[in-house]
Amino acid sequence: MKIKISVPATTANLGAGFDTFGLALNLFNEFIVEESSSIEIETSPKNDFLENPENNLFVQVLKRSCEYFGNEFHGVKLSQRNNVPVARGLGSSATAIVAAIMVSAFVNKKELTDKDFFNIAYEFEPHPDNLLPAWKGGFTIALKDKENTFYQKLDFPKEIKAVVAIPDFQLSTEEARKVLPEKIPLKDGIFNVQRASLFVSAVITKRFDLLKVAMDDKFHQPYRKKLIPGFDNVIKNALENGALGASLSGAGPTILALATESFDDIGKSMAEAFEKEGVKAEYKVLDINEEGAKIEVI
Ligand code: HSE
Repeated sequence: MKIKISVPATTANLGAGFDTFGLALNLFNEFIVEESSSIEIETSPKNDFLENPENNLFVQVLKRSCEYFGNEFHGVKLSQRNNVPVARGLGSSATAIVAAIMVSAFVNKKELTDKDFFNIAYEFEPHPDNLLPAWKGGFTIALKDKENTFYQKLDFPKEIKAVVAIPDFQLSTEEARKVLPEKIPLKDGIFNVQRASLFVSAVITKRFDLLKVAMDDKFHQPYRKKLIPGFDNVIKNALENGALGASLSGAGPTILALATESFDDIGKSMAEAFEKEGVKAEYKVLDINEEGAKIEVI
């Protein structure tokens, strides 16, 4: 049996919704899997690092998931098509985690419950804001307490697209969390609660004029921007060229703009602001993905 799983890229935070908001994007990593008695990995574009089973997150999560579902792991023949850039704040790790959990549940004929999904997934990535939209698609609001993950998936306006400016350097979430302070002043807490709430209501009521102010943030962007040359100017260019709002994508270094028009003008102007700082960058215009991860026998 040959199984194919496609999992969308995701952008987390969307400004004020730090560790809470996530949005799935129409850019996919694909994992084609066959049973095997050994581990064989082929990647496209070719990536020697990922072809080593010890480094391959999909293989590591698959092993753990098989154990979780009570099945011995013997091996796998994996063909991995990577379209989501790695360590850029677009949820590439979440694609591998979601894909591996879905495959193991499918092969072991288990219905994948939220509880099982998060039990396994959190061993590899502790934040639901990329995991959830990668799995379920759409715009998700999630919180994790000691025992449970509570979440909602909301309709996201179809007329909005994501313009992502992707600089040519990697930044791990771990590195980008190290620069965050332990404590946040109350006024910054208020600033973010107000904006995150406004963002949700703007999405529900399609008040696109509110997105600019609603995507501002004081929890993480002011600290992380020192790791991202040109951050302020990339945001400024996006807004001046027609974006509804702009923010760091996840832990960065990609920057996200939401827009209903002028997509290429926005993307070009964002890439130019990176390039002014000597950082090569490309941009992509992506539809919002509503379906989430898909698994099929091929
Ligand atoms: N919310 C996370 C962060 C992104 O900004 O560090 C990855 O889940």
